[in-house]
Formats: sequence, C-alpha cells, structure tokens
Amino acid sequence: MCGIVAGAFQDNVIPFLLYGLKQEEYRGYDACGIGFLEKKEIQIVKKIGRINSLVEKVQNLKGNIGIAHTRWATHGKNTENNAHPHMSMHRIFALVHNGTIYNYKEIRTSLMQKGYVFYSQTDTECLANLLEYEYALSGNILEAMQQMQQRVKGTYALCILNKEEERIYFMKKSAPLIIGIGKQGISLSSDIRALEQQDFSVDLDEEEYGYITKENYFIYNQNQRVTKKEKPIQKNRFQKKEISMDCYMKKEIFEIPYILENILKKYENGFSAEIINLFSQASKIVFIASGTSYHAALIGSQYFSIPTEIYFSSEFITEERKIHSDVLYVFLSQSGETMDVLKALEFVLSHKGITLGIANVENSTLLRKTQYSLQMHAEAEVAVASTKAYCAEVLLLYLLAKYDKISFCKENILLIIREIKEHLKNVESIENIAEQLKEKEHAYFLAKGKDYFLIQEASLKIKEVTYLHSETLYAGELKHGPIALIDEGFPVFLLGNKENNEALLSAREEVEARGAVTYFMTYDAKQDLGFLPLMTDFFLLAFYLAQKKGCDVDKPRNLAKSVTVE
Ligand code: F6R
Repeated sequence: MCGIVAGAFQDNVIPFLLYGLKQEEYRGYDACGIGFLEKKEIQIVKKIGRINSLVEKVQNLKGNIGIAHTRWATHGKNTENNAHPHMSMHRIFALVHNGTIYNYKEIRTSLMQKGYVFYSQTDTECLANLLEYEYALSGNILEAMQQMQQRVKGTYALCILNKEEERIYFMKKSAPLIIGIGKQGISLSSDIRALEQQDFSVDLDEEEYGYITKENYFIYNQNQRVTKKEKPIQKNRFQKKEISMDCYMKKEIFEIPYILENILKKYENGFSAEIINLFSQASKIVFIASGTSYHAALIGSQYFSIPTEIYFSSEFITEERKIHSDVLYVFLSQSGETMDVLKALEFVLSHKGITLGIANVENSTLLRKTQYSLQMHAEAEVAVASTKAYCAEVLLLYLLAKYDKISFCKENILLIIREIKEHLKNVESIENIAEQLKEKEHAYFLAKGKDYFLIQEASLKIKEVTYLHSETLYAGELKHGPIALIDEGFPVFLLGNKENNEALLSAREEVEARGAVTYFMTYDAKQDLGFLPLMTDFFLLAFYLAQKKGCDVDKPRNLAKSVTVE
C-alpha cells in the first residue's frame, strides 16, 4: 500500500528518494510523486503508474530537502491530482500521508467555509490545508501540528515540507514511520527497506511528532523532547541473493524448504518458558488474521489439543465480542502491519486480553504492541502473493502445538521438507496444467472436510496473481447448485487425501460427465503437514499461469503487500 520516503541531505536527495520508492514498490501502488525545496519554493512532480515514469521526469532535478510517496488509491480515483504530495492552498506546505482520516469531510467542509479551495478528492489534502490554517493562527509549526493532532480522527504517518525551512516535519499515529540516520543526512520512511542506504534507524512511537534537518532529528511527545535508541540498519537484506530467479514470487516459492529448515533449527530446542506457559495455561486459543495468514491459522490450529477459534481480523470486532482472561489471543501476520489485524489487537488489548503476536517483519507494529511476540523467520517476503510465509506460519503453529514433543516430530518435518524439494524439482507437470488453463476464465476447487482450508488458499493464490476467477466448494455441495456452471472444458481441481476419497471421486465423475477437465491432487493425510508439498504445487501453478498470461507476477493489480487501511 502507500509508501513514504523523505530526506534532508547535504547533497541532492532526489536519487535517494527514487531508490526508496523503488524499495517500497513491492507494497503495491497506483501512482507516485516527489516534492522538494527549490529556492524557497516547493516543486512537485507526480505520475500515475510505475516509478520508472517518475524517474524520467525528475532525474535531472536537484533538491536537498524532499518527500516522496507511492499512492494506493482509497479516497478518490487514480489521478495525478489525487496522488501525493498534496500542497496547501497557499503553497506553504506540501505533505505525504499514509493512513486514513476518518473525519476528513467535516474538516474539508469547515475549511471550505473559510475560503480554502480543494483540488483533489483525497482525505490527505485536508491535512495540508488544516496545517496551513493552524499555522496562520499560531505562527508556530509544531504548535499547528499539535492542534492538528487534536482535531484529526484517523491514522497517519505524515512527512511535511515547509517552503521556508530546510526541515521535514513528521507526525505519526497507528501507521509506521522510521527515522534513518546516515552520512548523507537524515531521512524518514514508512518502511525500513527504503532506508537501507542509511546507517542507523529510530522507530517512532504513537502520537510522536517532530522534524529532521540535514544534521539531526528532534522527536516530541506532548511538547516534551524524546530521546531514543538508534539501531544499526542491516544492509542488503532484501536482495534476490540466495536463489537467483527472475521474480520474487518464484524465488520465494523455491526458498520454502530452506525457510522451513531454518525455522525448525530456530525452534527445535523448544520455545521460551514464557511462551510455553502461555499455551499450557490457556483454556482456549483464538487466532486472528487476514488473507493467507488466516488460511494458515485455519490449518495450523488443527494441531492444538485445546479448543481453538479462528477469526478474520476484519470481522473480529463486534458489539457482542467478549474478551476472556483465560484465553490466549494469537495474531498472525506476515507483515505485522495489516490494519485490520492491528485494530483487532487494539480491541483485545483495551479489554485486557493476553496477546501473542507472530509476524515475519522484525520490529513490526504487531510484534511491538503484543505482550508476547514470536518472529516467523521466513526472511523478507517481497512478492505481494504470500507463499513462503504461509508455509512458515503453518510450521510455526505446528511447532507451538507440539512444543513438548518437537524432537519426536523433527524427522517427519524433515521428510516433508525433502518432499517439497522433490516437488520443486519436478515442475513440468505443473507448467503443463498452467498451459491448459491459459485461456480459461473460471475454475472450481473442490475438497471435503478440513481440506477445504487448503483449497481456500490455493484458490486465493490463483485468483490474485492470474486474475482467473476461481471458487472453492465442498465437493458434496456441487450438485446443490454450482454444477450448473459446468460445461465443456470447465477446469475443476479436486484436492484430497490419497485414501478415503470416494466422495471426491464421485464429484469428479459428475463434472466430467458434463465436460469438465479435472485435476485430481492428493496428499498423504496420515503425515502431519503432509499437504505442504501439494500447496507448493499450487503456488507454482499460480506463478506459471500468471507468467504465461503475462501478468505482473510480483505486483498484481489492485493489491498491496501490507494492507495498511481498514
Ligand atoms: C495473499 C496475501 C494476503 C495477505 C493478507 C494479510 O497472498 O498476501 O491475503 O495474507 O493481506 O497480510 P499479513 O499476513 O501481512 O497480515
């Protein structure tokens, strides 16, 4: 989703901003833009579409103080006017924003009554004008920002240019923002990845604000200056280094065995006493997650011997929801920044629930806010479609469920890893299926019982990267309606156990009799985690089909790597 990068540098900051935007590209976006200071004027360049077209427009420009943004359209269509940075009406401020302003209509109306003119449909533009308005009243930017903080309802990471000063102001609430410190100058970003060229980072906490200059940074909380620990920035973390591949999705699928081996090594001697206590004392575990992480929770929760419940994070907060002190609330998220997950977490924390966060991204908001946290250790996942993180999540939940007998399970896990390696060596049959699906518009995925959780993930992956419309069904439900769609050549995937699959076989006959092309995929359900090699096949199928259809595999349309809006 939206990405921010900003810098106050001794030299030209524009190459750094472009590099940062490129690093944030994986998050998904529709438009991009840069704003910088030039002789006490703010210059802005915006482009719809890819960063490369912005590069062409700005590569010969120079400025030492600048802000940049990738926009994933929410409020208003994908137009240059709606792209960031947004300028205040009298061109005093320009700002970039991640997050959502809930009361923007009310602020906008009241500013319009004061004579302000708006040029975009975004919630962000009201912040630029509100800041200008407050600044006109107080004559002090930090004070104006505090006024704005009180007036605005919503979430934001903001970087602000003021045409008079060689500074970048910032504010943060419920959206990530990090300061970078390096020899070239000081920077800000919503994503540590954009700060790789810097040496140290400082995480900003809720409701902090302040400014950076070329030499220093100043953080405040309720008018008090705050000092914080600087952490060294790890370099080259996100390069396609271990396995060289043409795109991240493929690379990440091929990394699955190595990631699983790594996770096993990390946790084969068990978990900390603190984590074990959490699981041994809970009367129930409630898993909360979204998308692929939700699918991993559905399947991983099966291994626990105590009762479990699994919720979509976006559906967790209801008026009736009760939070219980003997329940463990586990939040599962690759990014650790998914807004729906963080909202559900806020809800549980506000009702004094016990929370454990499991995320892949080190230092993510989820890992910082839950009382207990575990890192997934799936290494950086860049492709928008989550593949290796799904496998990592499933394995981690399995290990947590078996925390007292991991050594007994180790052999089986290693066997599964070997099987995945074998599947990755034999991709030809998967490529062939992809070839057959190239011209299709719809597909069904059928399963029975808990295998339904697996086809949910397989179908999601196909849908998101190949745009093939796919639907999941319990095999027995087919004849109660959905079979009406089956005609000559309709692809139907059937997923099940190697044995006891009569119901699937009869579903196959029913659809084949009506001309469907069927793909019967089985796994050994007697082995714990025996489905993982099969899931790897589905991930590969999604990848090859997307590639054959000429789709942008790593950055599917309309999608974002971390969904930071509700
Ligand atoms: C699908 C996918 C999404 C994410 C979902 C949650 O391939 O990537 O469905 O799984 O947006 O993201 P995290 O796990 O970062 O909370």
